[in-house]
Amino acid sequence: MCGIVAYIGRKICQPVLIEGLKRLEYRGYDSAGIAVIGEDGQIAVRRAVGRISVLESKIADTDPLPAAMIGMAHTRWATHGSPTEINAHPHVDDTARIALVHNGIIENYSVLRAVLEDKGHKFTSQTDTEVLAMLIGHVYSELKEKNGIHLKPGQSLLAKAVQNALSEVSGTYGIAVICRDEPETLVVARKGSPLLIGVGNDEYIVASDAAAIVEHTAQVIYLNDNEMAVLRPGNDMRTSTIDDIDVSPVIQQLESKLEEYELGSYEHYMLKEIFEQPQAVSNCLRGRVDGKEGRITLGGVANFARELTKARRFILTGQGTAWHAGLIGDYLFEDLAKVVTEATYASEFRYRNPLVEDNTVMIAISQSGETADTLAALREAREKGAMALGVVNVVGSTIARETDAGVYLHAGPEIGVASTKAFTCQLTVLTMLAIYIGRRRFMSQPQCQELAQGLLAIPDQMREVLKQNDAVREIAARFAQQENWLFLGRGYHYPVALEGALKLKEISYIHAEGMPAAEMKHGPIALISDGMPVVFIATKGHQYDKVISNIEEVRARGGVIIAVATEGDKNITRYSDHVVYIPEALEALQPLLSVVPLQLLAYHAAVIRGCNVDKPRNLAKSVTVE
Ligand code: AGP
Repeated sequence: MCGIVAYIGRKICQPVLIEGLKRLEYRGYDSAGIAVIGEDGQIAVRRAVGRISVLESKIADTDPLPAAMIGMAHTRWATHGSPTEINAHPHVDDTARIALVHNGIIENYSVLRAVLEDKGHKFTSQTDTEVLAMLIGHVYSELKEKNGIHLKPGQSLLAKAVQNALSEVSGTYGIAVICRDEPETLVVARKGSPLLIGVGNDEYIVASDAAAIVEHTAQVIYLNDNEMAVLRPGNDMRTSTIDDIDVSPVIQQLESKLEEYELGSYEHYMLKEIFEQPQAVSNCLRGRVDGKEGRITLGGVANFARELTKARRFILTGQGTAWHAGLIGDYLFEDLAKVVTEATYASEFRYRNPLVEDNTVMIAISQSGETADTLAALREAREKGAMALGVVNVVGSTIARETDAGVYLHAGPEIGVASTKAFTCQLTVLTMLAIYIGRRRFMSQPQCQELAQGLLAIPDQMREVLKQNDAVREIAARFAQQENWLFLGRGYHYPVALEGALKLKEISYIHAEGMPAAEMKHGPIALISDGMPVVFIATKGHQYDKVISNIEEVRARGGVIIAVATEGDKNITRYSDHVVYIPEALEALQPLLSVVPLQLLAYHAAVIRGCNVDKPRNLAKSVTVE
C-alpha cells in the first residue's frame, strides 16, 4: 500500500515529510520521493528507489532541497510500471508547474494518456499517476488562458483544475497536488484511497495513515469519498465535494497515541505486537463484557440487534489472516449462536455470483479496513441486499465507513506486516458477537456467563503462554533451516493451523501448509519425510484422541512432532518431541491461546534465518490493489 504525506504551514516541511514517510514504511514500498515549492517559486522533486534512507542520503549528499513550507512525499508499492526512479512519485506535468502524489489506480489512464499525447504532451514514466499530473497541468493551462474564470471565495484555480481533471478520471485515488503558481495552496482529494487531514496549529499535515500525523496533532478530518480540500496557511481550509459543493468538515480526535507507533525496547514490531496481545485483548473487551451477567454490550451494532437476531445466515469474509479469523468465526457462530454461517475468501466471493438471501448479514473482517478484495466483496453483498458489519482495526478506514455498523478491534496500530494482535482481537470480537447473537437466540445465561468469564480470563492466560517465549525460540532454532513444515489441527484449531502456516511462510519464507489433521491421510501424508517438523494443536477437547492418532501416523513416518497442548497433559509427551503448553480454556476460546506459540515460532524462525521480519519481501501491510 503506497503512503502519502503532505504539509502546508509555517515550518520547513522537509523533516515533517521525511519523518512522516518513515512512519509509513511498515506498509511496504519499493521507492520514495518528495516535492516542495522552494523560495524561488520552483517545484523541486527528489526521488529514489529502495528505502527512504536512500532518498535521505540523496538529498543530504548530492541533491539538496530548497527550504520550503509546502510539500509532499510518497512511498510507492509498484502497480503500474516497475519500481524505478522514473516511476516513483511525486510526478510533475511536462511544464513542471504541477506536482502530485497518488494512491490508487486510474483505470482509464491509457485512454487519457493517448489524448494528452495527441495534444503534444510528452510522458517520461509508465505510471497512471503521471497521466493524472499531466491532465491537471493541461486543464490548469487551459483555465489560465480562459479569461474571467469564475472562482468562489477561497476557491483556487488549482482546485478548479483538479476538479475538472478528476471529472475525466475513473478509478480510485487519494491525491495531494501543489502548483508553482499557487505556492500557498495544497489541494487534496479522495476516492477509494484513504486521506486524513491533521489540523495543527497554523499548519496541516495530510496523510494516508494516522501514523504520519499522530506526533503533530490528534485533531483529524477523515476525507470521505468524492471529497476534496483546499488548504492554506493560517488554518485556512475549504472542504467540498469534487463537484464543488461545500462540505462542513468534521474534526475528530485520533484514538492512537504516538508511543503506540514506537518500537520501544523490542527488536521488531512483530514481537512487540505479539507481546501486546494481552493488553490489546483487554482493550478490545473493555466495557463490552459483563462476566457476572454473561452480557455482551456492543455499541456499534446496538441499533441492529434485531437484524442480527433474526438473521438467517452470516457470511464472514476477508483475506489472509482476516479470513482465518472468519473461519473460526464460522465455527463460533454455528456452535454458539446456532445460526447458518459461511466463511469465504473475499476475492472468491466477489466473482462467483454468490447467492444472498433475505436476512443475510455480511461481516467484513479487516485490520486495515482497506483491503481491496474485502471492500469489493462487501459492496457486492450489499448490492445483493445483505446488511453489512465491519470488524476492523483502523478507525475511519474505507471498510469501516462502508458498513451499516461494526465493531472496532481497539488493538492499537499494527505495524508489523504479519498480523498478530489484530488476529486475536478479531477472534475476540467474533466471540463477543457469537455470544451477543446467541444470547438473543438459544444460548442459556449460564453458558453466556461461562463464555464471558472465559473471555475475561484470556489476557492473563496469554501472559502465561508468552512466558514460554524462550522455550519456543529453542524449538524454532532446531527447525529454522527445515524448508517444509506442516501445521495440523481439528475443529477450532484447523484455522489456527492455517494461521500458523501463514505466519511462518510470510516472514521466514519457509514453505508451510496448514490443514485439518484428518485431511493429512488424503494425500499430504506423502509429504512426511524423516525429520520433517509437524506442528499439531493437540489441546484438550472432544477430538483430542483423534489428534493423538494423527500424531502417531506422522511419527510412524519419521515426522518430528511439535505439539501445542493443554497445561497438565502429561500424555502428550509420549507422542511429541516438543511441547508448548497453554492454559486450560473452553474449546471455543482456545484459539486465542493456541495461536500465540505459533506466532512466536514463526517470529524466531524468521529472525534466525535473517529475514526482515517487519518488512518481508514482496509483502505490503495492506493490499489495496486487486
Ligand atoms: C497476515 O499476516 C497478512 N499480512 C495478510 O494475510 C493480511 O491478513 C491480509 O492481507 C488482510 O489484511 P487486512 O486484515 O488489513 O484486510
